[in-house]
Amino acid sequence: MTPPREALLGALRALLGEGAVVVEPHELERYEKGWRYGRGKALAAVRPSSTEEVSRLLRHASDNGVRVVAQGANTGLVGASTPDGSGEMLVLSLERLSRTVEVDPVDRTVTADGGVLLSQLHAALEEHGLLFPIDLGADPSIGGMVATNTGGTRLLRYGDVRQNLLGLETVLADGTVLDLTRPLRKNNTGFDARQLFVGTSGVFGVVTKVVMRVVPRPVQRVTALVGLSSGAAVLGLLARLEGRLGEVLTAFEAIGAAALAPVFRHQPRLRDPFGGRLPAYTVLVELSSTLGAERLALDDLLEAALGEQLEAADGGEMTDVFPGKPSELWEIRHHVSESLRQEGETLAFDVSVPRSALAAFVDTARGTVAAGWPFVRFCDYGHWGDGGVHVNLIWNPVEAPRPASELKAELQPRLYDLAVTRFGGSYSAEHGVGPHNQAFYDLYTPELVKEVCRLLKQRLDPAGLLGTVRLG
Ligand code: LAC
Ligand code: ZN
Repeated sequence: MTPPREALLGALRALLGEGAVVVEPHELERYEKGWRYGRGKALAAVRPSSTEEVSRLLRHASDNGVRVVAQGANTGLVGASTPDGSGEMLVLSLERLSRTVEVDPVDRTVTADGGVLLSQLHAALEEHGLLFPIDLGADPSIGGMVATNTGGTRLLRYGDVRQNLLGLETVLADGTVLDLTRPLRKNNTGFDARQLFVGTSGVFGVVTKVVMRVVPRPVQRVTALVGLSSGAAVLGLLARLEGRLGEVLTAFEAIGAAALAPVFRHQPRLRDPFGGRLPAYTVLVELSSTLGAERLALDDLLEAALGEQLEAADGGEMTDVFPGKPSELWEIRHHVSESLRQEGETLAFDVSVPRSALAAFVDTARGTVAAGWPFVRFCDYGHWGDGGVHVNLIWNPVEAPRPASELKAELQPRLYDLAVTRFGGSYSAEHGVGPHNQAFYDLYTPELVKEVCRLLKQRLDPAGLLGTVRLG
């Protein structure tokens, strides 16, 4: 039996202090609603400011059978950081657990509390001539990034969270603190328990401290937008650039015309270099190096590689090249998701396939949608260098023959079936598992894997109090 609400709130205030407990409906709202999916009702939001306080809070919740969902900056895209609709879950917000950001230039690491934001990490590292390897448009917390295994736009060069994580401190459902923070680059001593908490949506523990490997900061960065007339040509360009410039290729992001047009519609301050005549695909290429331009002229290298591609057999498919300032071109890329959202009812997918299958997958998916759902606009963009593509389906609710929930029920399984079964891909490339795609986790995950997850959950959180996702 859970204790009456008032008694529980009183106990939480006594444990963590008055200001740590949020209950007013208008203040609670931002903890209850996700950026894209996830809309629930919380019993309260609780904001501990130390690992010790997280531990005390979880022990109390566990003793009283209260369910808890951890939340970083609430920027996730699968609804995994918001409470369900029961009104009985606590939101454990990490926003106050954000005091420590320590950079060690010799270890080349950053150690940060779970609630520290990506923007804070970028700023702290800049002073030391270092760079946080993961980059994206949103500003998540590092704890949330671990729980999601965030990828972002530089995965091609530096990898995702999993590949850069050195140490981790987590608090388990019963309040036990598990300290795995040693920042060792080599440690072959059996099972790597840290990875249990990466990409598992907070169901095994709450991430309170993270040690990440960071990289030397490039002093030179060159970017260009390249227009191409087909997906196959995008893959041709990728092969050329990797072959010629593999060591300095940092990003390769492709944006379909239907996904790019809304950026210039909704962000009038961003200049459209194509003057409104968008090619089928626009690729943002970035090269970067720790060597200065006098030692390695990246702009010349890029120009030469693009010139070679133009002369190749399929070169005619490369229609435009616009070199540009990195900050300006990245602003275009990072505004795609937000601009699409303003276009109408949106259903968003984050899928991946082997890179060789990207063009075929996107063409097939576009054809499937056009044939069965002609009122839906197919907008695709994403991380082609990693085989990742975001498909956003957009329609005008006034013109749609059926409500959004019915269309979602028709389209989501179709698209995932294409990506997973037909093209050997994944239904969640980088946004993780949440209530938004739980049913597909259940469908596509091997039984044995689920069984192992059940056993782990039984040991780490036997009453099933943590998180809103079921991995077992
Ligand atoms: C992006 C987010 C949606 O790549 O993952 O813009
Ligand atoms: Zn993405």
